[in-house]
Formats: sequence, C-alpha cells, structure tokens
Amino acid sequence: MKAVAIRAFGGPEGLAVIEIPDPVPAAGQVLIATEAIGVGGVDVMIRSGAVAAYGFEKGHILGGEVAGTVAAVGDGVDTAWVGQRVWGFTGLGGGYVERAIAPAETLVPLPADLSAADAVTLGSCGRVAHFGLRHAHLTPGESVLVRGASGGIGIMAVQLAARQGAGTVAVTTSSPERGDRLRKLGATHVLDRAGEGRGDEAQDAPAGHDVIIDVVAGPDLPSFLARLNPNGRMVAVGAVAGPPPADFAAHLFAAFQKSMSFATFSTDTMTEAARRAVTAELFTAAGRGELHAVVHELLPLEQAVLAHQKLDAGEVFGRIVLVN
Ligand SMILES: NC(=O)c1ccc[n+]([C@@H]2O[C@H](COP(=O)([O-])OP(=O)(O)OC[C@H]3O[C@@H](n4cnc5c(N)ncnc54)[C@H](OP(=O)(O)O)[C@@H]3O)[C@@H](O)[C@H]2O)c1
Repeated sequence: MKAVAIRAFGGPEGLAVIEIPDPVPAAGQVLIATEAIGVGGVDVMIRSGAVAAYGFEKGHILGGEVAGTVAAVGDGVDTAWVGQRVWGFTGLGGGYVERAIAPAETLVPLPADLSAADAVTLGSCGRVAHFGLRHAHLTPGESVLVRGASGGIGIMAVQLAARQGAGTVAVTTSSPERGDRLRKLGATHVLDRAGEGRGDEAQDAPAGHDVIIDVVAGPDLPSFLARLNPNGRMVAVGAVAGPPPADFAAHLFAAFQKSMSFATFSTDTMTEAARRAVTAELFTAAGRGELHAVVHELLPLEQAVLAHQKLDAGEVFGRIVLVN
C-alpha cells in the first residue's frame, strides 16, 4: 500500500510516497481503510525536525487522525467493528497511509450524515479546543481570546467558546478576510497577530480577556499574558511559533496583584473514554448544524508534499485533508 514517510527532516520535499506491506492489526488494534486523513500543525513540527529530539526518525510515517472503514480487527477486538465507518487516532504517526492501524479503544463511529473529511477536521482539533476551554474554566459571559484562530484547533475553539456563552470572542489572525470568516463562526472582535485591532476596530478591541486559548506561544507570548484580566487564565494548547522565552514566567510575577494563571494543556492527560465521548459529542453537534467543519481543501494522499507546502505558506484556513 501507499504511505507517506519522512525521507529527510526539513521542508515538505523531504516527504516521499513509498510502498509498504499492508499492516496486520495486533491484539487490541484495528485496520482502517482510510478515506480521509487529517493534516495539521503537529505534522509540520514533526516533519521539520523541530521535535526530532523526541525520538522521531527518518522513515517515520506522519499523521495521527484518520476516518474510513474498519477492514480487519486484531485479537480481543469485537468483530462487529468490521465494515463500520469510524474515526480513529493512530497516535503521533501512521496516518498518511491507505490502510492504518489504530487502537480499537480510540474508535468513534461516524454518524451516517458525517463525511470522513469532516470527521478528521472536527475530531482531534475539536477535543483539544473543548478540553482547553474546560481547563481554562470558561464561564458564560466571560471574554475569550483565541490566538492562532485560523487553524484547525483555533476554529473549533472559536465555535465552542461562542457556543458556551462567552461574552466576547476575540481572535488573532493574519488577514481581515480570515477575520470575516472567523466572525461567521462566532468571533466578535478581529485582531492582528500582534493583538491589535485594525482601523475602526482598534478602538473597539477589548482591553483584556478573562480566558486566552493560545495555539501559537513563541516570542510574543508574554505580550499576550499582559492582556489577561485580573484572575484571567491563559491555556497554551499549541506552540506553532515555537516555545516562549525562557523568562516568560517573570511576566506573571511582575503582575502578581492580577492573580493570573498560565497553564499548558495536552489531551494526553485525558482518559481515552473522555476523549471518545467528546469526539462523539462534536460529531453529533456537527450533524445538528451547531458546529462547522472547516475543510480548507481535499488532496489525494500522494499530494502530501503539496499539502505541507500550503501549510508552510500559511495558506490553510481550517484543516487540509488527504483522501484516498
Ligand atoms: N494540546 C494538545 O493536546 C494538542 C494536540 C494536537 C496538536 N497540538 C498542537 O497544536 C498546534 C497546531 O494547531 P493547529 O493545527 O490548529 O495550528 P496551525 O493550523 O498550524 O496554525 C494555527 C494558526 O496560527 C497562526 N500562526 C501560524 N504561525 C504563527 C506565528 N508565527 N505567529 C502568530 N500566528 C501564527 C496561523 O493563522 P494566521 O495566519 O491567520 O495568523 C495559523 O493558521 C501544534 O503546536 C501542535 O503541537 C496540541
């Protein structure tokens, strides 16, 4: 079968389409004939070599989120899964393939009205956003800022914050056009990447936020910490701009009297059952039209290099999805 592997860390051209034998599910695993494969910021981080220290090696197959039909099951897995359309989580790799192995415990059945592409757009990003907002203890009426709102996680955070009754939902994004699209998804204030409003909006922009969901981190993180209201909570759910400056905690201490909190959040700390339940809820909400899966583009698996070039160029709004 076809798979996309890292031949050389660095740019997208280091990815190669290779032929590998069909995998066989071990005990507790299933084999999924993939219809759709999510492509996101974490794949870019692994491909670039930024996280090579965590043990990723040449030959690594990218991708963690797939949707398709269960083709076979390993020992101990209910054979009733065979033939079912599912969403599955392969982990930090193994997704950019025609047939993927996933632990059976990660499977979420696809509602009949949900496409595989929409499932991989909602599934993983949606639960990061859901648990991130919960980690931030968002309560109705509070003001939220989603930093890095145009990506898969950010778009879900905007929609979920609005749905949970946030008083305002500000976003950072690189263009007014993206801002307009984010407004349609629930954003109330559009800021540039530095956190400033443009034109008339400059005066209207909230001075502070009760909750910041941050997908970006990087050198500018302290300037966003400074935008927390007293008792405000910032939850970092990603780091697409790299780690923050080592001394960023000094900014928390400098504003001691504001009682601000900073936390990281990873879905790794949630139980599999909790993750499955949230993903299933997100699928149901999408079926009711309460959430929108924003698919930037569908590309054949063989065009993974192009998908990564588009991500690197900053062209992607929402999720880019590989299909078979
Ligand atoms: N917490 C978890 O459990 C979990 C799980 C999976 C992934 N992650 C993490 O989530 C991140 C990827 O999320 P994603 O796929 O939603 O992100 P993404 O699509 O790669 O990027 C999000 C948005 O951030 C903006 N952005 C990019 N670079 C920026 C920069 N240098 N400065 C300011 N803004 C920038 C871009 O929008 P504009 O151009 O419009 O500004 C982009 O669309 C990764 O760090 C990954 O490790 C976390």
